[in-house]
Amino acid sequence: MTTAAKLPQAEQASTSRSARIDIDKIRRDFPILARDVRGKKLVYLDNAATSQKPRAVIERIVKYYEQENANIHRGVHFLSELATREHDCAREAVKEFVNAGSTREIIFVRGTTEAINLVAQTYGRANVGAGDEVLITAMEHHSNIVPWQILCEEKGAQLRVAPINDDGELLVGELHKLTSPRTKIIALAHVSNALGTVNPVKKIIDCAHSKNIPVLIDGAQAVPHMKVDVQELGADFYTFSSHKMFGPMGIGVLYGKAELLEAMPPYQGGGDMISSVTFEKTTYNKLPFKFEAGTPDVAGAIGLGAAIEYLNQIGMDKIEKYEHELLAYAIEQVSSIPGVRLIGTAKAKTGVLSFVIDGVHPHDVGTILDQEGIAIRTGHHCAQPIMDRFGIPATARASFAFYNTKDEVDALAAGIRRVQEVFN
Ligand SMILES: Cc1ncc(COP(=O)(O)O)c(C=O)c1O
Repeated sequence: MTTAAKLPQAEQASTSRSARIDIDKIRRDFPILARDVRGKKLVYLDNAATSQKPRAVIERIVKYYEQENANIHRGVHFLSELATREHDCAREAVKEFVNAGSTREIIFVRGTTEAINLVAQTYGRANVGAGDEVLITAMEHHSNIVPWQILCEEKGAQLRVAPINDDGELLVGELHKLTSPRTKIIALAHVSNALGTVNPVKKIIDCAHSKNIPVLIDGAQAVPHMKVDVQELGADFYTFSSHKMFGPMGIGVLYGKAELLEAMPPYQGGGDMISSVTFEKTTYNKLPFKFEAGTPDVAGAIGLGAAIEYLNQIGMDKIEKYEHELLAYAIEQVSSIPGVRLIGTAKAKTGVLSFVIDGVHPHDVGTILDQEGIAIRTGHHCAQPIMDRFGIPATARASFAFYNTKDEVDALAAGIRRVQEVFN
């Protein structure tokens, strides 16, 4: 859906000249990056929590509400047909973006959290029984822990947890040792939100499949940073959130293999997910609608489609390369400051720099950096078990997107030194 012909001329020229991204142009595409915060230039390093939105996404949503708004699937009138068509196009864009086999495999949900709950409450309820096991890892976001705990509690099943090492790398051998004929599903993050570790998910999926165990990948922190091909990975389920990949809040995606989705019971009942209803019996709609009860977030889906188009115009390969260099620079700058310890030093990392400063609580780090206009996140990052694993209550976390710059990393490093001055 993205072609060179769609690129503005200046961008075409710059992309053909080099394989690098045009950072100045990109920053101009994000209106919020031009604003001041507390009298200082905003340095937004909280992208793992949510990303900022390019003008193309904002304007697409405005256009939808100004020109196209109607409920979908139910009307014969012009606007309803238009909105339905645009919603379908967004699903097609998502399908292409992650290389799913069919739009039937793309379920729109509220976000990663809802996607995982959907799988736990449908696939899980149908396939996990008393004495069975669900296997996750020690680096999961609460969204990939609690839905499985709820399921296990209800079914009398057990949650098993694969350990990580001191660098925050998954012990893949230990994970495989924890599988057994009772393992009904493995669910793990592609990229850890607290540590930035990139897990070798293809290797894990291949090995799980050799034992007939399906795998759900939580891709919330992967999709904004790298090209994801669900067919190449072989993932049975893959989940992600629009708001972390430069699209609007309130919408996300569950990718599932069609044969699994076909066999799963519905998640919620209501309009659109049915084929026919009588008081005696309801038959369900075909995929993907079987899992999309009620009026969907039409504007959200269309906004997500615009975010994907924007990302495609830049190129995920270029984004990945640029961010790789930026993170390497950030690691070098921050880790060389005496008294600063990085949490999460995996060889394969993306997007995230978690750290602690000797003698300073991470919340104080966040508050002082905020005075400098620098937005980072502090706390347990919805991953309390990881904090326990490292014996700390919290970290300060800077997280990056392709619109961040080395100058902003320098501002972060200067801010950290300022924190140390205040506390020493
Ligand atoms: C790895 C990971 N999984 C799941 C989630 C939950 O995403 P959402 O709140 O968009 O549902 C997050 C959010 O930070 C995350 O980082």
